[in-house]
Amino acid sequence: MREDYANAGKVSTNVKSLLKQLGLPADILRRIAVACYEAEINMIIHSYGGEVVLEISEEGIYLLFKDTGPGIADVEKAMKPGYSTASGKALEFGFGAGMGLPNIKRVSDTFDLKTSPEGTCLRIGFHI
Ligand SMILES: Nc1ncnc2c1ncn2[C@@H]1O[C@H](COP(=O)(O)OP(=O)(O)O)[C@@H](O)[C@H]1O
Ligand SMILES: [Mg+2]
Repeated sequence: MREDYANAGKVSTNVKSLLKQLGLPADILRRIAVACYEAEINMIIHSYGGEVVLEISEEGIYLLFKDTGPGIADVEKAMKPGYSTASGKALEFGFGAGMGLPNIKRVSDTFDLKTSPEGTCLRIGFHI
């Protein structure tokens, strides 16, 4: 998954079409797609790889992004709009605007970020 640019965006596309079949409102679908896209791109450009888990329950839709490192050194900085450590290929591919995490936080209803040098775990939720 690391630097797997060919598959960038596939998770969010699949999640969106799956949830659309469940008849979720367009507004929630849009927010989930935006957040999922940004989080999966972060795994590709910043992490060593990991997994995405989609959880559908009565309370809402939850997405878990779990990767194997190197983690976020300074979360407070990382949450600031425009802050990015992206380099090289990521920038070539047009990523690295530093808006991913702030946008994920903005469009999600719950946002839970845990990170260490061993990896990052981001769990976001959307009420339905
Ligand atoms: N899964 C991750 N693993 C390691 N670092 C991350 C991860 N997600 C985000 N980051 C760090 O947080 C910064 C800000 O992320 P983001 O707002 O999405 O901006 P961008 O991805 O454009 O750099 C990144 O530049 C990176 O340093
Ligand atoms: Mg990003």
